[in-house]
Amino acid sequence: MKISSAEFVMSNSDVAKCPKDPFPEYAFIGRSNVGKSSLINMLTNRKSLAKTSGRPGKTQLINHFVINKKWFLVDLPGYGYARVSKSSKKVFQRFITDYFKNRKQLISAFILVDSRHEPQKIDLEFMEWMGINNIPFSIIFTKADKLSKNKLTPQIEAYKKSMLQFWEEMPNYFITSSTSNLGKDEILNYIEEINSQP
Ligand code: GTP
Ligand code: MG
Repeated sequence: MKISSAEFVMSNSDVAKCPKDPFPEYAFIGRSNVGKSSLINMLTNRKSLAKTSGRPGKTQLINHFVINKKWFLVDLPGYGYARVSKSSKKVFQRFITDYFKNRKQLISAFILVDSRHEPQKIDLEFMEWMGINNIPFSIIFTKADKLSKNKLTPQIEAYKKSMLQFWEEMPNYFITSSTSNLGKDEILNYIEEINSQP
Protein backbone atom coordinates (compact mmCIF):
# COMPACT_ATOMS: atom_id res chain seq x y z
CA MET A 1 0.00 0.00 0.00
CA LYS A 2 1.21 3.46 -0.83
CA ILE A 3 0.93 6.07 1.94
CA SER A 4 -0.10 9.27 0.21
CA SER A 5 -1.05 11.18 3.35
CA ALA A 6 -0.57 10.79 7.09
CA GLU A 7 -1.89 13.47 9.43
CA PHE A 8 -2.19 13.91 13.17
CA VAL A 9 -5.86 14.29 14.15
CA MET A 10 -6.04 14.66 17.94
CA SER A 11 -4.90 13.45 21.36
CA ASN A 12 -7.33 12.26 24.03
CA SER A 13 -7.48 10.59 27.39
CA ASP A 14 -11.16 9.78 26.92
CA VAL A 15 -12.30 7.25 24.33
CA ALA A 16 -15.66 9.03 24.05
CA LYS A 17 -13.88 12.08 22.60
CA CYS A 18 -11.95 10.18 19.93
CA PRO A 19 -12.73 10.93 16.25
CA LYS A 20 -16.20 9.93 15.14
CA ASP A 21 -15.33 9.00 11.54
CA PRO A 22 -16.30 5.39 10.90
CA PHE A 23 -12.83 4.55 9.57
CA PRO A 24 -11.13 1.22 10.18
CA GLU A 25 -8.65 1.65 13.02
CA TYR A 26 -5.44 -0.09 14.11
CA ALA A 27 -3.82 0.56 17.48
CA PHE A 28 -0.25 0.10 18.70
CA ILE A 29 0.25 -0.98 22.29
CA GLY A 30 3.03 -2.48 24.38
CA ARG A 31 5.56 -1.68 27.07
CA SER A 32 7.00 1.81 27.29
CA ASN A 33 9.99 2.29 25.00
CA VAL A 34 9.28 -0.82 22.91
CA GLY A 35 9.06 1.33 19.77
CA LYS A 36 5.35 2.01 19.12
CA SER A 37 5.75 5.62 18.02
CA SER A 38 8.87 4.84 15.97
CA LEU A 39 6.98 2.10 14.15
CA ILE A 40 4.17 4.50 13.24
CA ASN A 41 6.75 6.88 11.77
CA MET A 42 8.40 4.04 9.88
CA LEU A 43 5.10 2.80 8.42
CA THR A 44 4.05 6.28 7.33
CA ASN A 45 7.51 7.42 6.08
CA ARG A 46 7.34 10.41 8.44
CA LYS A 47 10.28 11.18 10.70
CA SER A 48 8.35 12.72 13.54
CA LEU A 49 4.65 12.23 12.99
CA ALA A 50 4.48 10.39 16.32
CA LYS A 51 6.74 11.70 19.08
CA THR A 52 9.49 9.32 20.14
CA SER A 53 12.07 9.39 22.90
CA GLY A 54 14.93 7.33 24.28
CA ARG A 55 13.28 7.72 27.68
CA PRO A 56 10.22 5.61 28.42
CA GLY A 57 6.88 7.30 29.03
CA LYS A 58 6.91 9.65 26.04
CA THR A 59 3.44 8.93 24.67
CA GLN A 60 0.86 9.73 27.34
CA LEU A 61 -2.43 9.97 25.44
CA ILE A 62 -4.51 8.24 22.78
CA ASN A 63 -3.17 9.75 19.53
CA HIS A 64 -5.10 9.43 16.28
CA PHE A 65 -3.47 9.70 12.87
CA VAL A 66 -5.52 9.52 9.68
CA ILE A 67 -3.84 7.70 6.81
CA ASN A 68 -4.78 8.28 3.17
CA LYS A 69 -7.88 10.03 4.57
CA LYS A 70 -9.41 6.57 4.97
CA TRP A 71 -8.15 4.77 8.06
CA PHE A 72 -6.69 5.47 11.48
CA LEU A 73 -3.46 4.50 13.16
CA VAL A 74 -3.50 4.99 16.92
CA ASP A 75 -0.43 5.54 19.08
CA LEU A 76 -1.03 4.65 22.73
CA PRO A 77 0.94 5.17 25.95
CA GLY A 78 3.10 2.28 27.04
CA TYR A 79 2.28 0.10 29.97
CA GLY A 80 4.68 -1.15 32.61
CA TYR A 81 6.61 2.06 33.04
CA ALA A 82 7.82 2.00 36.63
CA ARG A 83 8.65 5.67 36.95
CA VAL A 84 5.14 7.08 36.64
CA SER A 85 3.39 7.22 39.99
CA LYS A 86 1.01 4.42 40.91
CA SER A 87 -2.04 6.66 40.67
CA SER A 88 -1.23 7.97 37.19
CA LYS A 89 -0.38 4.41 36.11
CA LYS A 90 -3.90 3.41 37.10
CA VAL A 91 -5.38 6.25 35.08
CA PHE A 92 -3.35 5.15 32.06
CA GLN A 93 -4.50 1.63 32.41
CA ARG A 94 -8.06 2.72 32.83
CA PHE A 95 -8.23 4.77 29.67
CA ILE A 96 -6.30 2.19 27.68
CA THR A 97 -8.67 -0.58 28.73
CA ASP A 98 -11.66 1.72 28.11
CA TYR A 99 -10.29 2.44 24.67
CA PHE A 100 -10.00 -1.25 23.80
CA LYS A 101 -13.37 -2.18 25.23
CA ASN A 102 -15.31 0.69 23.70
CA ARG A 103 -13.72 1.75 20.44
CA LYS A 104 -16.12 0.43 17.81
CA GLN A 105 -13.90 1.28 14.83
CA LEU A 106 -11.01 -0.78 16.14
CA ILE A 107 -10.26 -3.60 13.71
CA SER A 108 -7.14 -4.95 15.33
CA ALA A 109 -4.41 -4.09 17.79
CA PHE A 110 -0.70 -4.65 17.34
CA ILE A 111 0.98 -5.68 20.57
CA LEU A 112 4.65 -4.77 20.36
CA VAL A 113 7.32 -6.78 22.15
CA ASP A 114 11.08 -6.24 22.04
CA SER A 115 12.56 -9.04 19.95
CA ARG A 116 15.58 -9.22 22.29
CA HIS A 117 13.57 -10.10 25.37
CA GLU A 118 12.06 -13.27 26.76
CA PRO A 119 8.27 -13.17 27.07
CA GLN A 120 7.39 -10.69 29.81
CA LYS A 121 4.64 -11.35 32.30
CA ILE A 122 2.98 -8.00 31.67
CA ASP A 123 2.75 -8.67 27.90
CA LEU A 124 1.40 -12.17 28.40
CA GLU A 125 -1.20 -10.83 30.83
CA PHE A 126 -2.19 -8.11 28.43
CA MET A 127 -2.58 -10.62 25.59
CA GLU A 128 -4.68 -12.79 27.85
CA TRP A 129 -6.89 -9.81 28.69
CA MET A 130 -7.29 -9.06 24.97
CA GLY A 131 -8.23 -12.68 24.35
CA ILE A 132 -10.82 -12.69 27.14
CA ASN A 133 -12.32 -9.50 25.73
CA ASN A 134 -12.32 -10.85 22.17
CA ILE A 135 -10.15 -8.05 20.83
CA PRO A 136 -8.16 -9.21 17.79
CA PHE A 137 -4.44 -8.59 17.84
CA SER A 138 -1.17 -9.37 16.10
CA ILE A 139 2.23 -9.42 17.76
CA ILE A 140 5.00 -7.19 16.45
CA PHE A 141 8.58 -8.03 17.38
CA THR A 142 10.49 -4.74 17.39
CA LYS A 143 14.13 -3.64 17.17
CA ALA A 144 15.15 -6.70 15.15
CA ASP A 145 18.18 -4.69 13.94
CA LYS A 146 19.63 -5.06 17.43
CA LEU A 147 19.97 -8.83 17.04
CA SER A 148 22.06 -10.76 14.55
CA LYS A 149 20.11 -13.09 12.26
CA ASN A 150 21.67 -16.02 14.15
CA LYS A 151 20.12 -14.83 17.35
CA LEU A 152 16.85 -13.43 15.99
CA THR A 153 15.42 -16.66 14.60
CA PRO A 154 15.92 -18.79 17.75
CA GLN A 155 14.63 -15.90 19.86
CA ILE A 156 11.36 -15.74 17.90
CA GLU A 157 11.07 -19.54 17.98
CA ALA A 158 11.50 -19.52 21.76
CA TYR A 159 8.83 -16.82 22.06
CA LYS A 160 6.41 -18.89 19.97
CA LYS A 161 7.11 -21.93 22.10
CA SER A 162 6.23 -20.14 25.31
CA MET A 163 3.12 -18.59 23.72
CA LEU A 164 1.92 -22.08 22.88
CA GLN A 165 1.80 -22.91 26.57
CA PHE A 166 -1.14 -20.52 26.86
CA TRP A 167 -2.53 -20.24 23.34
CA GLU A 168 -3.78 -22.91 20.98
CA GLU A 169 -2.07 -21.16 18.10
CA MET A 170 0.63 -18.55 17.79
CA PRO A 171 -1.15 -15.27 16.98
CA ASN A 172 -0.36 -13.59 13.69
CA TYR A 173 3.02 -11.87 14.03
CA PHE A 174 5.48 -9.55 12.30
CA ILE A 175 9.21 -8.99 12.77
CA THR A 176 10.20 -5.34 12.41
CA SER A 177 12.91 -2.74 12.62
CA SER A 178 12.11 0.94 12.48
CA THR A 179 15.67 1.69 11.47
CA SER A 180 15.83 -0.74 8.51
CA ASN A 181 12.13 -0.75 7.52
CA LEU A 182 11.98 -4.50 8.09
CA GLY A 183 8.36 -5.65 8.24
CA LYS A 184 6.95 -2.47 6.74
CA ASP A 185 5.45 -3.94 3.57
CA GLU A 186 4.07 -6.94 5.43
CA ILE A 187 2.20 -4.78 7.94
CA LEU A 188 0.90 -2.33 5.33
CA ASN A 189 -0.24 -5.17 3.06
CA TYR A 190 -1.96 -6.83 5.98
CA ILE A 191 -3.85 -3.62 6.77
CA GLU A 192 -4.67 -3.03 3.11
CA GLU A 193 -6.08 -6.50 2.76
CA ILE A 194 -8.39 -6.01 5.74
CA ASN A 195 -9.42 -2.52 4.58
CA SER A 196 -10.34 -3.82 1.14
CA GLN A 197 -12.79 -6.37 2.55
CA PRO A 198 -16.40 -5.25 2.31
P1 GTP B 1 6.51 5.25 24.92
O1 GTP B 1 5.78 6.28 24.11
O2 GTP B 1 7.37 5.85 25.96
O3 GTP B 1 5.61 4.20 25.46
O4 GTP B 1 7.59 4.51 23.95
P2 GTP B 1 7.39 3.92 22.48
O5 GTP B 1 7.00 2.49 22.58
O6 GTP B 1 6.53 4.80 21.66
O7 GTP B 1 8.90 3.94 21.95
P3 GTP B 1 9.59 4.99 20.94
O8 GTP B 1 9.07 4.79 19.55
O9 GTP B 1 9.53 6.35 21.51
O10 GTP B 1 11.09 4.43 20.92
C1 GTP B 1 11.84 4.27 22.11
C2 GTP B 1 13.33 4.22 21.77
O11 GTP B 1 13.62 3.05 21.00
C3 GTP B 1 13.79 5.40 20.91
O12 GTP B 1 15.08 5.75 21.34
C4 GTP B 1 13.83 4.82 19.51
O13 GTP B 1 14.77 5.46 18.67
C5 GTP B 1 14.24 3.39 19.78
N1 GTP B 1 13.74 2.47 18.75
C6 GTP B 1 12.44 2.28 18.40
N2 GTP B 1 12.31 1.36 17.43
C7 GTP B 1 13.57 0.96 17.13
C8 GTP B 1 14.11 0.02 16.21
O14 GTP B 1 13.41 -0.66 15.44
N3 GTP B 1 15.47 -0.14 16.21
C9 GTP B 1 16.29 0.55 17.05
N4 GTP B 1 17.59 0.30 16.99
N5 GTP B 1 15.82 1.45 17.93
C10 GTP B 1 14.47 1.66 17.98
MG1 MG C 1 5.39 6.39 22.17
